[in-house]
Amino acid sequence: MGLMEIMKRYHQIAIDGPAGAGKSTVARKVAESLGYCYLDTGAMYRAVAYKALVEGISLDDEQAVTNLAQNTNVCFNRGDGRSVFCDGRNITTHIRSTEVSRAVSVVAAYPGVRERLVHLQRQEAAKGSVVMDGRDIGTYVLPEAEVKIYLTASEEERARRRYLENLQAGKVSSLEEVLEDIQQRDRLDSEREYAPLKPAADAYILDTTGLPAEQVAEKIVSIVRRD
Ligand code: CDP
Repeated sequence: MGLMEIMKRYHQIAIDGPAGAGKSTVARKVAESLGYCYLDTGAMYRAVAYKALVEGISLDDEQAVTNLAQNTNVCFNRGDGRSVFCDGRNITTHIRSTEVSRAVSVVAAYPGVRERLVHLQRQEAAKGSVVMDGRDIGTYVLPEAEVKIYLTASEEERARRRYLENLQAGKVSSLEEVLEDIQQRDRLDSEREYAPLKPAADAYILDTTGLPAEQVAEKIVSIVRRD
């Protein structure tokens, strides 16, 4: 039996959207309410970017970055769902740095990198019910997900959320700089050729501007229960 057939036995919720839309906070709450596992696919792309930076590989060298991704293992702590491990090493805090945020959309545009990570993501979905967040979950990774959500919010609000998140993590940044980084990443993610950021044809589009994460998560859970 193929991976796709095994995956069908479980429930799948796909949450996509641009940077800072609140996907991970919301997806985590939805997973908790439903008793599913949460998988942060962005953390996997960040892990590859981080490893490339540490190993001094030029981000423009598609072949080298692709080879690196093919030989990288990324996994999550199933207990807290937060800790990210790259080849057995805990890199949870490292992958949130500004350097990684600036590098990630470059490596994420390479088809070979995506192929490797999508394979790992589908393997996870074959183990049990999941809430997965990212950019191409509803359109590509889990095309048969029973509920697909496209989360968005105004650019200003998304920048403000990311800025506050940084502050809480003790990271100094300026709102303008965060806004520019988000705009640059959204542009690269939407314009890339292979599995770009876009809502699936059958996605519910939720604009979360002004809405607390708790309320957004409740709305998604109610959509899942109604469907
Ligand atoms: O949390 P934030 O919105 O900043 O982004 P993330 O979910 O951590 O994703 C980081 C980057 O990984 C994105 O900007 C994309 O370049 C890439 N990514 C992707 O290409 N496909 C996914 N399924 C998830 C993330």
